[in-house]
Amino acid sequence: MKIQGHHILITGASSGIGAALARQLAARDCALILLARREEQLRDLVQQLPGGLQRHRIIVCDVSRSAEVQKACREIEALAPPVDGLILNAGVGGGFDVRAMDVEAMRYQFEVNFWGSAGFLAELLPGFLQRHSGFIAVTSSLAAWRGMPRSAPYSASKSALDRLIESIRIDCWRCGVHIALISPGFVKTPMTDRNRFPMPLMISADKAARKIIRGLDKKKPHIRFPWYYVCAMQLVRILPDGLYSRLMAIRKKYEQ
Ligand SMILES: NC(=O)c1ccc[n+]([C@@H]2O[C@H](COP(=O)([O-])OP(=O)(O)OC[C@H]3O[C@@H](n4cnc5c(N)ncnc54)[C@H](OP(=O)(O)O)[C@@H]3O)[C@@H](O)[C@H]2O)c1
Repeated sequence: MKIQGHHILITGASSGIGAALARQLAARDCALILLARREEQLRDLVQQLPGGLQRHRIIVCDVSRSAEVQKACREIEALAPPVDGLILNAGVGGGFDVRAMDVEAMRYQFEVNFWGSAGFLAELLPGFLQRHSGFIAVTSSLAAWRGMPRSAPYSASKSALDRLIESIRIDCWRCGVHIALISPGFVKTPMTDRNRFPMPLMISADKAARKIIRGLDKKKPHIRFPWYYVCAMQLVRILPDGLYSRLMAIRKKYEQ
């Protein structure tokens, strides 16, 4: 299956990976629904796309608020032709200080990174299953594969998302709906521009979007990149917990 001429919802479309996906998918004649909180960024983006607001639409929605997600989903379900692709990509990072844990800030990362995708799945997946077609891709992170230093809520929320998608994929196996998990390494976006620690092997948002679309074309269940970072993380994943913690603690010392 080649992604071409599809009707696709992209959450977190106002910047970074989501915006790069929007540009590349619009160039493949897809009609897009671009969703995020910042309306001005969405409007600027849609005006740059072929067909502009006549072909694509924007939805302003805070994915951490379930009432707004439900309202957005009602609007999406009323569209014809029905949406046949979901890219649930909205996400937030943010620092974490183990000596001053802010439970509300931790909860917020779960609200956006986990519930912000789970809410759309709950509302829109039944329609996909009824139609026996389409694809659903959810952006997680390679940071979900192990607990990362100073990123506990981010790693934990993305890790929960990994398991959610893995389980749902089994439940939907042979239902005609392709379900993909996206696990990027470091990608240059406004999210990573805020980080003050070294981010090895970083790639551009355009390159990340190309890899995601190629993975969807090939119906890959798990789209992970860049490959050299994936290999390193595969190795790190099988390290015994004590050794992993010791190594990461040494790295952390040099980053301070
Ligand atoms: N950059 C990386 O290195 C990297 C690596 C692995 C995974 N990821 C994941 O990739 C995804 C995209 O991130 P990015 O790197 O492209 O960062 P980004 O440029 O900061 O994009 C994040 C997007 O999520 C949206 N968003 C955040 N909170 C939201 C909320 N409450 N409601 C609705 N939309 C919200 C933002 O839009 P508004 O602010 O307009 O709402 C924005 O469009 C995220 O899920 C992130 O975790 C990124």
